[in-house]
Amino acid sequence: MTSTTSEFDALRDRALICTQCGLAETRTNVVFGVGHRSARLMIVGEAPGKNEDLQGEPFVGPAGLLLDELLAGIDIARPEVYIANVLKCRPPANRDPKPDEIETCKPYLQEQIRMIRPEVVMTLGNFATKLLLRTDTGITRLRGQRYDWWLGATLIPTFHPAAALRGGEIVKDQMREDFALVRAVLDSTPTAEGQSSSDPKSDREVSGSQMELFP
Ligand code: URA
Repeated sequence: MTSTTSEFDALRDRALICTQCGLAETRTNVVFGVGHRSARLMIVGEAPGKNEDLQGEPFVGPAGLLLDELLAGIDIARPEVYIANVLKCRPPANRDPKPDEIETCKPYLQEQIRMIRPEVVMTLGNFATKLLLRTDTGITRLRGQRYDWWLGATLIPTFHPAAALRGGEIVKDQMREDFALVRAVLDSTPTAEGQSSSDPKSDREVSGSQMELFP
């Protein structure tokens, strides 16, 4: 069952004043996440960059523009999805997230996923993919496939858009394939009558056997 708005708001309020790791000292804003509370698709990136830190919103820089373009390519608009990161605060100078920062921040992401209950989770890049699939295998080997995942969701890993901005059309084409897989999974799931297949889901119970992988 989806959580109440107040539970979600309470989680957000806690994150916005979080001082559990050193990133609290250097951040401008906590970037909790944005999007539809009942999204069928949740996207998980790595950590806020400079633009995100300044604006308090994920994927608002060049990588975000590419993300929007890839979503548009499968007929999904940004407000229909929920977008969050592994880390809610920017690592100084965009350095890699540290293992202790990931562990400390993980409960926020777990709770976001538990409350939103997306049908599909798309991970962008190595940090999100390794954390959510609990693997050391790299994104190049993991992408291009779907994985039955926690809470009955399907996880689809792809490259980080920043990698595509560096890697050019070959990487973008592979990302387009992965987004097409997201579209196919969403389209294969029956939706309420009159609801388009990418619309945020109506109140939906999730039950049945679940692979306990993530926490
Ligand atoms: N890269 C990320 O992983 N997340 C953002 O929010 C922005 C850039």
